[in-house]
Amino acid sequence: MKPGAIAAIVVGFIVVVGVIVFALTGSSNDDTANTAQPTTVSTDSAPNSDAVSATLTSAEVALHSVGVDCWTIVENNVYDITEYVPLHPGGAEILRACGTDGTTLFLQRTTADGEQIGSGTPHSDIATSQLSVYLLGPLEQ
Ligand code: HEM
Repeated sequence: MKPGAIAAIVVGFIVVVGVIVFALTGSSNDDTANTAQPTTVSTDSAPNSDAVSATLTSAEVALHSVGVDCWTIVENNVYDITEYVPLHPGGAEILRACGTDGTTLFLQRTTADGEQIGSGTPHSDIATSQLSVYLLGPLEQ
């Protein structure tokens, strides 16, 4: 066999191997990108769509009755105060309002029976403005 023919075979072999390696590497990178993106998007959007689609009735509020998922009603408005629970200056007393009507608890710091909670005085204006941040909407009867 002539030296030119041998050189042509070697170069051809190198080109074929190069093309195969490039094709395999390229396709595996694409697969990674395609599987990572949709997972992130659907996880991020799930909690928001839950809250938006919920109907703001007393029955719905009652489903959110624990510290890690705490909705309350104050003067016929529904609030999701979950994020505020760990920040509350009055500690765990705020949990009394989760899943129920917290109007008397918030406005007077007393129970419906008139039992004093903490100072038993109304919350400050600062507390009222903080509450407004968590408004979901008016209570549906
Ligand atoms: C509805 C049930 C709640 C109860 C039973 C409750 C109870 C208390 C208690 C016992 C204190 C300690 C001070 C004191 O005794 O006067 C306090 C302080 C405070 N709470 Fe609440 N709380 C409730 C909900 C909330 C909510 C929803 C917010 C705001 C989003 C809030 C904001 C504050 C603030 C800012 C303070 C510091 C004192 C003030 O500004 O009045 N609380 N709370």
